[in-house]
Amino acid sequence: MTAAPVTTGTAGRLLAGYHALGRAAGLRDHLTQHGPPPLPGISARSSVGSQLIQVVEDAGLTGRGGGAFPTARKMRSVAASRGPAVVVVNAAEGEPASGKDAMLLTVAPHLVLDGAALAAHAVGARQIVVCVHAGGELAAGTERAVAEREQAHLTAVPIRVCEVPGRYVASEETSLVNWINGGEAKPTFTPPRPYERGVDGRPTMVSNAETYAHIALIARYGAEWFRSLGSPDAPGTALFTVTGAVAVPGVVEAPVGTTVADLLRMAGGPSEQLQAVLAGGYGGTWLSLPLVHTPTTPAAFAAAGAALGPGIIIALPSRACGLAESARVLAWMAGETAAQCGPCVFGLPAIAQDFAAIADCRADASVYHRLQQRMSVIPGRGACRHPDGAVRFAASALQVFASHVNFHERAGRCLAARRPGVLPIPGGR
Ligand SMILES: Cc1cc2nc3c(=O)[nH]c(=O)nc-3n(C[C@H](O)[C@H](O)[C@H](O)COP(=O)(O)O)c2cc1C
Ligand code: SF4
Repeated sequence: MTAAPVTTGTAGRLLAGYHALGRAAGLRDHLTQHGPPPLPGISARSSVGSQLIQVVEDAGLTGRGGGAFPTARKMRSVAASRGPAVVVVNAAEGEPASGKDAMLLTVAPHLVLDGAALAAHAVGARQIVVCVHAGGELAAGTERAVAEREQAHLTAVPIRVCEVPGRYVASEETSLVNWINGGEAKPTFTPPRPYERGVDGRPTMVSNAETYAHIALIARYGAEWFRSLGSPDAPGTALFTVTGAVAVPGVVEAPVGTTVADLLRMAGGPSEQLQAVLAGGYGGTWLSLPLVHTPTTPAAFAAAGAALGPGIIIALPSRACGLAESARVLAWMAGETAAQCGPCVFGLPAIAQDFAAIADCRADASVYHRLQQRMSVIPGRGACRHPDGAVRFAASALQVFASHVNFHERAGRCLAARRPGVLPIPGGR
């Protein structure tokens, strides 16, 4: 999904400018609303830089790219590494159902770029690279925003835009580093992690586009302000892409901890009867309907055995077959690997085939037995977490659609499985 529409948001911070203007904010709009970024003319890794890292730590900001890693800890690691660093903005949004980063970079590019400039100052970076998917409007729009800043002499550290292939694993952080370095957009085994040795062999901070936009606001308004929304263990707001069977699909901004049910309401509410919700995208988990009251904090999601990922919520209507939807996604996930590690080369296609058999009502007990065995040996064995995400997704499908599994076994055919899919698959499989 690219540049999804913004739906109503009650907690406008990142999107406040968009809600006020009703259009994307140019540099002049941005400076009128927020003033210039608090970037003093002091050399890199100055005390001001470490003060910013401290404020980000006090704010409790965690990464919005899916892993919820503490941002200040990452900044400290990069700042502590030797030599000039590089800042990479990950706006390459590989999840097909996610639209928040493209939308944010479209409507508030200067928040993202301010955040990257502030982070560069704090970690001692002399280069900023903004990664977006190749072939869309986003690269040109971001280039225009960068040019506006150059004309206004707002660019202390050079910013370049890098177009990345539109594949799922291409936006994983080591893939981005590889690609920027002139290699393939494929993950590499770690260590070294990008913060140790990344772009041009330099310590590299790779963070999500939304994460940088939060840094831009925290630097201006402070940690207490940031913490005034959200929950103590997961402060601030976040962008959520809410799609599927809702009246107004799009991106909403809400305090972290808002329940899934409230996010659905913010997207206009269910447009028809629901049977389940997919949270976290294709590396995430299906939630049964009672779990829609789960607050969207990493801790609450982990306690529910779920993964929030980069804030994706897809409402699945009752008319759909959850097993057929999952089979389509798993077939796509199996084709999206970098085909360089055993779990992806052998494991994911086999799991996808087993799921196809289940969806087609062709599976017998041996298929389920084999599937469980395969799923148990895959996690943690690839260079990246792609296979882990696919297995998490598959396991949650078997659990949440367990009664439908029984139906497929008994009935021998499922009319819902033949209907057009609800979950978006690039290329429209
Ligand atoms: C298969 C895979 C795909 C990923 N895709 C994205 C993505 O599209 N956008 C993103 O920001 N992070 C993505 N990540 C996570 C990044 O590797 C990295 O952790 C993230 O950009 C760090 O940003 P954060 O700390 O702000 O969350 C992906 C990870 C994996 C394993
Ligand atoms: S685990 Fe899979 S997607 Fe990740 S690097 Fe290995 S083959 Fe590629």
